[in-house]
Amino acid sequence: MKLGIISDTHDDIDNVRRAIDIFNRETVKYVIHAGDYVFPGVVMEFKRMNAKLIGVLGNNDGEKVHLLKAFLEIGGELKGELGEFSIDDLKIGIYHGTSTEIKRHLIASGRYHFIVCGHTHRREPAGFDRGNIPKNTSTLVLNPGTGHKKVESLAGTFLEGGVIIVDTECREYEYINLP
Ligand code: NI
Repeated sequence: MKLGIISDTHDDIDNVRRAIDIFNRETVKYVIHAGDYVFPGVVMEFKRMNAKLIGVLGNNDGEKVHLLKAFLEIGGELKGELGEFSIDDLKIGIYHGTSTEIKRHLIASGRYHFIVCGHTHRREPAGFDRGNIPKNTSTLVLNPGTGHKKVESLAGTFLEGGVIIVDTECREYEYINLP
């Protein structure tokens, strides 16, 4: 089965539409969003996606009630700040990544094959294009980087957005750039 990962879409509707096209093309069954939708209308865009959206809240997601409503309306599942998900014998933890300490604890817990995070707007593992999910060793962190377009701001340069596609049977993941 295929699983999509996206995070930190931050109001970028154009890029969200591109990501949904990729997820539909790749025929993923589930998409995990690691938070920072910001505008609840971003969630509504996922209505035309042929996969179920599973999300957690990020530090910029203040409109919790509206976000929850949007998730319910599209048949998705908003898990709060921390989430767990199992598929094809893979145990997955989901956390935006706001607290590096909580992230560290989740990794150290040994409960998960991989943890889906966002927040840093940087890919994890850094510089990868594809790779394998380790069988029984350390917990991998999969962070798709930002879901929005490249932005230059006072906070620095945010690189191009991207998504991750995980093949849960082959236990492989692949990063796809958003144009
Ligand atoms: Ni964030």
